[in-house]
Amino acid sequence: MQDVPPDKIIILPDQKQKTANPFYKGYFKSEELLGMGFKSVGENVKIAKNCTIVGLDKISLGNNIQIDENVFIAANVGPLNVGDYVHIGGGSHLSCAGGITLSDFCGLSQGVRIYSATDDYTGFSLTNATVPEKFKNVKIAPVFFGKHVLIGSGCVILPGVQIGIGSSVGALSLVNISLKEWGVYFGIPAKRIKARSKNLLELERKFLEEPIGTNR
Ligand SMILES: CC(C)(COP(=O)(O)OP(=O)(O)OC[C@H]1O[C@@H](n2cnc3c(N)ncnc32)[C@H](O)[C@@H]1OP(=O)(O)O)[C@@H](O)C(=O)NCCC(=O)NCCS
Repeated sequence: MQDVPPDKIIILPDQKQKTANPFYKGYFKSEELLGMGFKSVGENVKIAKNCTIVGLDKISLGNNIQIDENVFIAANVGPLNVGDYVHIGGGSHLSCAGGITLSDFCGLSQGVRIYSATDDYTGFSLTNATVPEKFKNVKIAPVFFGKHVLIGSGCVILPGVQIGIGSSVGALSLVNISLKEWGVYFGIPAKRIKARSKNLLELERKFLEEPIGTNR
């Protein structure tokens, strides 16, 4: 085998020298988000650069929020209000026409779909986005999640649903009626299977007592 001349030797770059990964676009941070036209943006907010978000002027964002890749938020009609320490997992879809509120410490896992507006599926009206409103019977009602609500992967939440403080919903559930507080729910439609521990409230208290800049 022929020797390779020294100037033709290819040295693989180490981790630091690698060119940027074209599949990863990173996050916008609060400083950049502030100039984009949101109704409000708190501190330490991160939104993945490949999200699609419309209706920025109707979106209020608290502090310490992370919105991951490929999230779609349609807030051109109704508002989205997000509290502090909220995570919205990748691939989630928030249809905000009737208004959506995610209170402090809420978490949406990946692929959660929240509809505060939905077409009429009974056949008594026309449906879908291409048809004028006067031929449709869209159900519009606000969706509200209390503090510490956690929604598992792939869940669907329908208009008018209110989820009480501290409740969680298992993966692939359909939530079509409001859920009481401090329960673990799952299924289609979601049913309460047991109580959810309130231990997390003590952890919240300890966490918020920690000086800013350490763990938070
Ligand atoms: C709902 C959930 C919290 C229940 O967990 P758990 O309290 O440990 O309950 P178990 O796993 O013991 O399940 C109890 C029963 O419910 C069933 N079950 C659990 N989750 C279910 C779900 N999402 N849908 C339907 N049935 C479910 C289990 O199969 C089991 O049935 P069995 O009694 O007939 O064997 C959990 O299963 C879940 O869905 N977590 C969400 C995870 C997620 O989405 N993570 C994403 C990253 S954060």
